[in-house]
Amino acid sequence: MIRQKIICGNWKMYKTIDETIDFIKRILPVVEESSALVYLAVPFTAIYPAVQEAKNTKLVIGAQNMNDASEGAFTGEVAGKMLKNAGASFVILGHSERRRFFGETDEVINKKVQRALKEGLQPMICIGETLEEKEAQQTEDVLNRQLSLGLANLDPNEISRAIIAYEPLWAIGSGHTATPETAEKMQAFCRRWVAERWGEEAAQQLHILYGGSVKPENASSLMSQQDVDGALIGSASLIPDAFTNIIKSCCEIH
Ligand code: PGA
Repeated sequence: MIRQKIICGNWKMYKTIDETIDFIKRILPVVEESSALVYLAVPFTAIYPAVQEAKNTKLVIGAQNMNDASEGAFTGEVAGKMLKNAGASFVILGHSERRRFFGETDEVINKKVQRALKEGLQPMICIGETLEEKEAQQTEDVLNRQLSLGLANLDPNEISRAIIAYEPLWAIGSGHTATPETAEKMQAFCRRWVAERWGEEAAQQLHILYGGSVKPENASSLMSQQDVDGALIGSASLIPDAFTNIIKSCCEIH
């Protein structure tokens, strides 16, 4: 099965509204020509203006986090239905920075995944092992735990609408990208894991992205792997030329 590639930028806590609009104007010509789906996870404040700027284009705008409740007295939190109403189409959940700095557990992430699906947002669930876990050869155990808890209670239809991003922690922001072979091995493991529980059809429809120091120089070799359906990109997604070069290299448009 040929899955359309997804190139997703994760801006983290960068870019004002003005910077967002300027960035989108610069990348749109390449986005429109691309055979890949281009996603941008922008800060909450930039969602609505980004959606306006991307109207009637192929660019898909999303968020980087949300609360698992439908609404309530949770000062400072943002609900999925608010993201949806602002025009977001997807939401990144369980990014390692959320797990590490904000104490998010697999159980909380699972509640967020279920809420996102209920609100009509496509969840992008991040998983991946630390350097210590990799060196102790625990990668598959870690992925097994994160997948079974993070995807609990989903049905096959929901699984096929979700996106998984395999982001080994030792590769995020470090410049140490996983080799294409390592990314393929772990992502094939994830797809098999999903197939065993939800069936081959759901597993084949599921998009599994690789994240961690993806750059214009390494993007095409990673994305040429069978089970690498695209990339989740942090720092290189902040620079219009770097981001469009990644899109071009994956789609071979120049
Ligand atoms: P990076 O970040 O591309 O800067 O390594 C990836 C991520 O955190 O999603």
